Amino acid sequence: MISVLFVCLGNICRSPLAEGLFKMHVNEQGLKDFFTIDSAGTAAYHLGELADKRTREMAVRQDSLSLSHKARQFVANDFFSFDYIVAMDKTNYQNVIMLKPLQGTAKVLMMRHYDSKNITEEIIPDPYYGTTKDFEEVHKLLKDCTKNLLQAIVEEKSIAL
Ligand code: 4NP
Repeated sequence: MISVLFVCLGNICRSPLAEGLFKMHVNEQGLKDFFTIDSAGTAAYHLGELADKRTREMAVRQDSLSLSHKARQFVANDFFSFDYIVAMDKTNYQNVIMLKPLQGTAKVLMMRHYDSKNITEEIIPDPYYGTTKDFEEVHKLLKDCTKNLLQAIVEEKSIAL
């Protein structure tokens, strides 16, 4: 199994959506049996909550995607449970790296590095204090980045499609 964990701050806007969209691409490509996919937040503000209503509404509107993940906090042990940890912004990245155990095996990646169009911006912006347009933009970005990430993992792991 290949395991992928998406990480943001609250685990209610960006990372549960990245998890849902990555699962959607995996299912569309018939790769469900190869993957374990989850998400987590570096903070504990929203433990046990479903994704933000605005994120869930946009996911249904754009992709008929129902998000059922309940927020949990990132833990150091995730470095042993997952092959890839994918951070949404630089603060998430640093907070994840700070918890890395010496023998931790996961590769830590930045989500925005998989944007097909982007050449300079490094982060998936946090839409929590933003507008509907911001949630729409994050949805579009994550749909593209998660698709390209899946492609990169398929190539790295030499999965025959
Ligand atoms: P996320 O967005 O990290 O994409 O889930 C946020 C959610 C909640 C808060 C901040 C960002 N908060 O401050 O409660």
